[in-house]
Parts: sequence; C-alpha cells; structure tokens
Amino acid sequence: MKISRRKLLLRAALFGPPTAFGYGSVIEKNWIDVNHVDIPLAPHHRQLHGLRIALMSDFHHDEFGDDELIRRAVDHINAEQVDVVMLAGDYISNHVPAMESLCAEFANLRASKGVFSIIGNHDRWHYDDSIPKMFEESGVRLLVNEAADFGGFAVGGADSCWGGNPHLPTIEAQLPKDMPILLGWHEPDTFDYYKNPQYVLQMSGHTHGGQVCAPVYGPILLPSYGRNYPFGHYQQGTRNLYVTRGIGTMDVPTRFLCRPEVAILRLVDQTVSLPDER
Ligand SMILES: [Fe+2]
Repeated sequence: MKISRRKLLLRAALFGPPTAFGYGSVIEKNWIDVNHVDIPLAPHHRQLHGLRIALMSDFHHDEFGDDELIRRAVDHINAEQVDVVMLAGDYISNHVPAMESLCAEFANLRASKGVFSIIGNHDRWHYDDSIPKMFEESGVRLLVNEAADFGGFAVGGADSCWGGNPHLPTIEAQLPKDMPILLGWHEPDTFDYYKNPQYVLQMSGHTHGGQVCAPVYGPILLPSYGRNYPFGHYQQGTRNLYVTRGIGTMDVPTRFLCRPEVAILRLVDQTVSLPDER
C-alpha cells in the first residue's frame, strides 16, 4: 500500500508526540547515563591529578521522584569509588518532606573525602530547618557559602543565586590563599560572575540539559540563570565548568534526547597519562 506524503506527515504529527512522550517517560527517563569526563588542570594545580568526583543534581523528588532510580544512581557512584560526591541542588520542587526518602538513598553514598550538597533555587524558595537536618542525618555535608579544607584542595558550596545569597569571598576567607577550590553552585550561568582562577572547577545543574530536546536543535526550554551553559563541559582560561543534565524530571515526567546523568569527573594534568576510563 502506497501512502501519500501528506498522509505520512499527518500521521507523524498525530502519533509522533505521544510516541515520543511514551518512550521518554517509560524508557529514557529511567535510562541513566554514567558519563565519564576528564577535566584539564592548569600545571600549577597538578596536585589534584587523578581526583575523581561524582556529580548528580536536580532530583525534584516530590514531582515524579523514584526511589529506585536514585538507588541505581547511588549504586553507579559507589561502583566508581570516587573521592568526592557533589549533590548540586533542587532536591524538591515544592514539598520539602519528599526529601526524606531521597536522603535515605543518599545515606548509602560512599566517597573517600566525603559527600557534599548545595542548595538549588527550589530548595531555597521552600527552605526550612528540616533540610540541613535531613542532610546531616544522612551523612551529607551541606555547604552554604562554606568550604571543606582537605589540605591540598577544598570543596566549596555557594548558595543559590536565585533567591539565596551567594558570597564567594566568605568561602575564600575560610581557606589558605590560592588553595584550589572545587565549587558547587547550582545555577551554571554564575560561571560568568567571577574570574578567580582559584576555582578550578565549578559543578552545576539546574538546566536538566533542557530535559526535552529536539533533534539537531537541542534544548527547547532553558531556565533563567541556565541559558548560557545548558549542559556539559566549558572552559574559560584555566577555569572549568561542568553542567550535569540532572537525574529527575520537572513539570512533565519525561525526558527526550536528554538522558538522566551521573557525571564522573576526573581531574587530569594533561602532561601525565592516565588509563582511558570510557
Ligand atoms: Fe534549579
């Protein structure tokens, strides 16, 4: 049977979006991409060579959260035997108590230097004292304009720039001058807000990578403070930014051409060879 071009286009218009939605909500939304990325170091930061960080973000656990998805993400991270885990915010969209089952999964995360979290804009908009309490009970250290000093480097966390009060000088004042800092800051466009090369790597989320992407075109919708750096690795001089696509979904329980991501970031002095991880 021959189908005319007009009929074919009509059928694509009628059945394409529901089919894509079904695929995105049943398959892609649950299909975790463990993404290994090498982050180049400036020569004077080579003491960080080989350090490995797991980055995960944007859980929105009160919307379409799935404990089993988080459990699998935690298992992936634990299998990587990383040094640091950074949880980059937006644990919920509106309803803070939904963090309880999320934090129960976070309690199983393992990293030699520790598990850290920062505040996203949604967490800030609905912030109450139960948030730091739940992190503390899960063994996760929440960093709000704070830093953890590990001698050769520090892990810092800035408050959300959308509703919070981020202040990098407060972080820097807690550390020796010029100590390299691995910074969690929820909104990626803040990468343009500072130039200090002490910040070797900024880790962000917020954008969901668009969550629903069009072929070739890419992300269809991006949020405020997330339009300059939608996803992936960016560099300005010796500073690096990595923006994860996140793990959860918001507004619609689907992802399309934008799989949930656990990013495994390895800091690399490019003059020294390391085995290929991919
Ligand atoms: Fe966000």
